[in-house]
Amino acid sequence: MKVSAPSNIAFIKYWGKQPPLNDQTRNLATNSSLSMTLTRARSIVEIRDSSESRDVIEVFGAPAKPKDQEKIVKHVERICAYLEITNRSPLLVKSDNTFPAGTGLASSASSFAALTFALIGHFKGRSFLESSIKTQLPFLSALARRGSGSAARSVCGPYMLWDGPSARAIPCHWKLYDTVLMLSKVHKAVPSSEGHLLAMENPEFSDRIKRLPARTAAVLEALDQRSISRLGPLIEEEALEMHQMSRTAPNPVDYLLPSTKTVLHAVQNLKSRNFFFTLDAGPNIHFISETPIKSSIEDLLRNLNIKSEIWEDEAGIGPELL
Ligand code: DP6
Repeated sequence: MKVSAPSNIAFIKYWGKQPPLNDQTRNLATNSSLSMTLTRARSIVEIRDSSESRDVIEVFGAPAKPKDQEKIVKHVERICAYLEITNRSPLLVKSDNTFPAGTGLASSASSFAALTFALIGHFKGRSFLESSIKTQLPFLSALARRGSGSAARSVCGPYMLWDGPSARAIPCHWKLYDTVLMLSKVHKAVPSSEGHLLAMENPEFSDRIKRLPARTAAVLEALDQRSISRLGPLIEEEALEMHQMSRTAPNPVDYLLPSTKTVLHAVQNLKSRNFFFTLDAGPNIHFISETPIKSSIEDLLRNLNIKSEIWEDEAGIGPELL
């Protein structure tokens, strides 16, 4: 079984986890989050029976690192428990991305969404998976969430609200673009799973949580009205606040590079613009716009003498069975 699932970019961030009581309640967020599902940035997961007497896990064409192996096998066990499969044969799991990992394109979101779907398809067959997608999407989202929180929002699209155990699609068919400035492809020093917990130690964190329902409602309204001039300032304020929580925590983490700050500063000083930024837990900048804006970003970089690859993406509909 082979499935591809997209990454997503959060407009309202999942940044903070409720204390994990057990595996069922794993990765429950401290707040609702809202994201746009992407189209091109995807993970492709293929699952077959292994020819060896053990699970073989390959990530990006090489044997998985022990930590990744452990997380993937744990997720296999989770899905087996959900499907009440007690005696399974060893698996060959191959996971690949269309984009470089660790670049702020949220590879754990797409990979755990794809893994969840591929495992269900492998064990129960394609038509069971297809009918689960139609009728059980909240369960699939909650299962993916236990692999990685943001994966809860990669099971459908184009806009997802994750509220409680699972995420659901928001009825909005607005085509927005995400132009990503890939300022670094180096893996982040502090993984998000740790970053969540460090940010929660910030004394300002509880005030952020109080502010979020109003901001989330305003983002939903902006999506409903398809108003980029209302949406833009909200997502920028949200991204900066999330990074502020980490940068000013008792154990501070600054995910941004000097070049990220230079570009953000230049963007904020532009007299007028038709694109707005957001950031994940990394140095790369996502520009959200209603039209493709690669050439405007290239002009900006030329003026700043900064070299960067640019990834062009756009709102998408979710996983695909291959
Ligand atoms: C900054 O989903 O990567 O991208 O649940 O520990 O796997 P785990 O964390 P993860 O956190 C993503 C955080 C974020 C914001 C977001 O996508 O909402």
